[in-house]
Amino acid sequence: MKVSLVDFAEEEDEIRSVRDRVFGEEQGVPNNINWDGLDERCQHVVVRAGDGKVIGTGRLAPCGKIGRLSVLKKFRGRGVGGKLLTRLLAVARASQLPEVFLHAQVNAVGFYEGKGFEVAGSPFVEAGIKHLRMSKCFKNNGDE
Ligand SMILES: CC(C)(COP(=O)(O)OP(=O)(O)OC[C@H]1O[C@@H](n2cnc3c(N)ncnc32)[C@H](O)[C@@H]1OP(=O)(O)O)[C@@H](O)C(=O)NCCC(=O)NCCS
Repeated sequence: MKVSLVDFAEEEDEIRSVRDRVFGEEQGVPNNINWDGLDERCQHVVVRAGDGKVIGTGRLAPCGKIGRLSVLKKFRGRGVGGKLLTRLLAVARASQLPEVFLHAQVNAVGFYEGKGFEVAGSPFVEAGIKHLRMSKCFKNNGDE
C-alpha cells in the first residue's frame, strides 16, 4: 500500500470512484453533497493497493477541514484510513495550519480519537447522518 498527496485533476476519476461507492452507494449521501464543488481548492491524499488501484481517499480544505475520508469496504480495518489521516495531518502541518477540524460521523468518532482529535460541541445531522465536530490542535512537540 502506498499513500500519496495527489493532484485532484489528475486523479479525479479514481477519487470519484471511491467516494461514489462509499458515500453514494453505501451511505446514500446525495450527489450534491458528496460533490460540493470544493475539491479543486483542497489537497487530496490517496492510498493505492499493490496493483496501483486507489482504495482510499481524503481531502484537506484551505480552512483546515479534513473530509471525505473513505476506504473501500473490503480494505477496511487494515490501516488504510489511519494512513490517509496521518498523511492529511502532515499536509496540514506543512501548510502551517494551527489546527484541523472535521465533521465526524458518530460511528467514526473512535477512529478520529485514536489520532488525537477531540469532540467539540453537540451532535448535528448532515446528509441525513448524525455527526460531531472534532478538532485537533498542533503543538510544537512532535505530535502528528
Ligand atoms: C472510517 C474509515 C475511513 C476508517 O478506515 P479504516 O481503513 O477501516 O481504518 P484503519 O484500519 O486505519 O483503523 C485505524 C484505527 O482506527 C480504529 N477504527 C477504525 N474504524 C473505527 C470506528 N468506526 N470506530 C472506532 N475505531 C475505529 C481501528 O480499530 C484502528 O485502531 P488501531 O490503530 O488501534 O488498530 C472507514 O471505515 C470508512 O471509509 N468508512 C466509511 C466512510 C466513513 O464513514 N468515513 C468517515 C466519515 S466521517
